[in-house]
Amino acid sequence: MRVDIITIFPEVFKPYFEESIIRIAQKKGKLKIGLHNLRDYTLDKHRKVDDRPFGGGQGMLMMLEPISRAVEDIVRRASKRRKTQDARRKTKIILLSPQGKTLNQRLVEKLAKYKHLILLCGRYEGVDERVADELVDEEISIGDYVLSGGELAAMVLVDAVNRLIPGVLGHKDSSRFESFSDNLLEYPQYTRPADFRGMRIPQVLLSGNHKKIKEWRRKESLRITEKKRPDLLNEARTYGTK
Ligand code: ADE
Repeated sequence: MRVDIITIFPEVFKPYFEESIIRIAQKKGKLKIGLHNLRDYTLDKHRKVDDRPFGGGQGMLMMLEPISRAVEDIVRRASKRRKTQDARRKTKIILLSPQGKTLNQRLVEKLAKYKHLILLCGRYEGVDERVADELVDEEISIGDYVLSGGELAAMVLVDAVNRLIPGVLGHKDSSRFESFSDNLLEYPQYTRPADFRGMRIPQVLLSGNHKKIKEWRRKESLRITEKKRPDLLNEARTYGTK
């Protein structure tokens, strides 16, 4: 998968993307990340990316023009790479914004199927509405709170999607049996020692009986979801039907 990120702070991504699973994914050639400074797509000498809102009001808005130029340039380069004019078909253009659809594992799974994502990080008090209306395919939020910009949200999205790219995680099942994959939280896990100051692990896990362990884990998944995130259970019942 290729991910192109349009931002006025390309540097903030580098430390995170150079570590851990994202670094490994890039090394394996499973993930390619392009960082694009929005200011490189301005035409004025001040490299201006924001302006005052029409009709007045507080604050500045990110301008449509440089964003449009950046997206066009990235799409054009992608189609050249693929030697086809049809780059848009497998490309999804996303605006990170608190007004977007809330990211969850189901949406992450859908996004992981694309060959190419273009992530646009909003900043300041907002973005010219024509970006959301005309330029992007989807607006995504990472939760009901307001960040100073879309950069952290883009990092969250890339991290979550990257884990689902085939061949990125070592064990082929390791992303399947975990929290949210079927809208249930993961069952509890323990490692050595089996008894630490009287805090003992559940006996069944020492039994060697795989059938029993499997049953216990499923029950625990349900119990923990009921206890910690009962809201997920309603969704779990309809999972796969939507
Ligand atoms: N930009 C500002 N707040 C955001 C949020 N919650 N999700 C995505 N992008 C944002």
